[in-house]
Amino acid sequence: LVGLRKVLANAGPPGRFLSLALANLERRMNQASLMTMPVAKGDARKIVGQPFFVPLYTLFKTYGGVFRLSFGPKNFIIVSDPDVTKRILKDNAKGYSKGILAEILEFVMGTGLIPADGEIWKVRRRAIVPSLHMKYVMAMLGLFGECTQRLCDKLHVAASNGDDVEMESLYSRLTLDVIGKAVFNYDFDSLSNDTGIVEAVYVTLREAEDRSVGIVPYWKIPILAAIDPRQQRVAKALKLVNETLDSLIDKCKKIVEEEDDEFTEDYINERDPSILHFLLASGDEVTSKQLRDDLMTMLIAGHETSAAVLTWTTYLLSLNPPVTAKLQREVDTVLGDRAPSIDDIKKLRYTTAIINESMRLYPQPPVLIRRALEDDMLGQYLLRKGEDIFISVWNLHRSPDLWEDPDAFRPERWDTFSAAEASQAFRFIPFGGGPRKCVGDVFATFEVVTALAMLARRFDFQIAAGAPPVLMTTGATIHTTNGLHMTVTQRTRAPVIPMTDIPSLTTVDEN
Ligand code: HEM
Repeated sequence: LVGLRKVLANAGPPGRFLSLALANLERRMNQASLMTMPVAKGDARKIVGQPFFVPLYTLFKTYGGVFRLSFGPKNFIIVSDPDVTKRILKDNAKGYSKGILAEILEFVMGTGLIPADGEIWKVRRRAIVPSLHMKYVMAMLGLFGECTQRLCDKLHVAASNGDDVEMESLYSRLTLDVIGKAVFNYDFDSLSNDTGIVEAVYVTLREAEDRSVGIVPYWKIPILAAIDPRQQRVAKALKLVNETLDSLIDKCKKIVEEEDDEFTEDYINERDPSILHFLLASGDEVTSKQLRDDLMTMLIAGHETSAAVLTWTTYLLSLNPPVTAKLQREVDTVLGDRAPSIDDIKKLRYTTAIINESMRLYPQPPVLIRRALEDDMLGQYLLRKGEDIFISVWNLHRSPDLWEDPDAFRPERWDTFSAAEASQAFRFIPFGGGPRKCVGDVFATFEVVTALAMLARRFDFQIAAGAPPVLMTTGATIHTTNGLHMTVTQRTRAPVIPMTDIPSLTTVDEN
């Protein structure tokens, strides 16, 4: 019909009249074929006591890939379909904003890259993406190795003393140390230091997470800000973190002013390879407040996500000894006792498959949030401007229509297709997709592969005797309810076999 309309439109006045009539007919046909979106009525009692994305999975199986969930006057569209996800994240990305997420995170990230929309987002994305060039990520490999070595030293002491360890908080500290150095050249040293700025970062992060999942927006009640001790503690912590960032920005500005290094695309300052240094050296025209918002955003975005991936990977491995044995065989062969180089990372294919499989089963975050800026069609369904959307990455990653045996932890499945292929089809989107895809995806993958390989080379982990069951709770990422308590034992050193030929995933011996 569209083709015929075009021909008629060019065929003089009678043709134009016929073309208009056809357009009318087309509109009516489209309206007739519009389907009413299925509506699931939410029962708040069913959600209490479990992370909200778990009941969404049950509803997805009943109502399908797009449905409306209504809680009294509140309405959300839940999307679990790869094509509709592609429409929202990529093909019509301009038609959506971050909606509620931007409102909730404003207090801590301001107009940083995650909550920002429109022109601010465009300008900041263009400034920040080049700072994560390949030479920078390679320089970061050394940092990943050093920070993981500090964690290994700590675990070595625990193993020697026979002490159990709580891995979730240790991973959180590892990734905080990494991101502080990587983004603004600050050593939190949180693996050995718990007070002051480290404590302030955690108070701020917890508040951001609580606001993300809270039902009542208590922070909007002005009287509470003045009298609630918790709100006051948050304000004090945020002030300390902001002041620290401001002073790091000032210090770095002075250093950059005194430098006469030539700025190139792959600029890197040897003494301070941080993203902050790159941005200032690039002559980026940005206010100190915006720069601080961006640094804070990267601190939050790149910290708990990587920690959560490591936590759930360690948990999954503890339940799957044959996978752990195969992992250890790979790291013994490829790495020996050194920290991974870029060539090693490329060879750690089974380790990478384990990370992909872990991010499939436990995506961080499990849900992406958007708001429609204009009417749109989601498959057969009409979506109205202003509607809030939850894209359930959890559902996409566990959909029985997209994955064989979806709940099984099977790193071998990544032998038959690549993560890139699955991402292009929008059935595997651990880093999101489209123009707002994570800027730290390669950084984060190398970081968690390095940490996992170095730890698996040196230690065996088992759930500690008498540990509480490992259950999920949700913030921005998936946390455990009571920590991941493990017994860690030093591995008896296997001989290091130099690697000549790298076996493919399928040819690595299962036994
Ligand atoms: C965005 C996941 C690590 C910085 C995102 C998004 C996801 C994600 C799913 C898209 C959010 C959306 O579309 O609403 C992860 C995971 C990580 C990780 C799973 C670790 C395993 C990092 C790191 C950094 C980072 C290390 C910084 C160095 C960002 C930023 C955005 C983002 C700035 C916003 C991009 C934009 O909106 O243009 N991340 N991330 N992330 N991530 Fe990551």
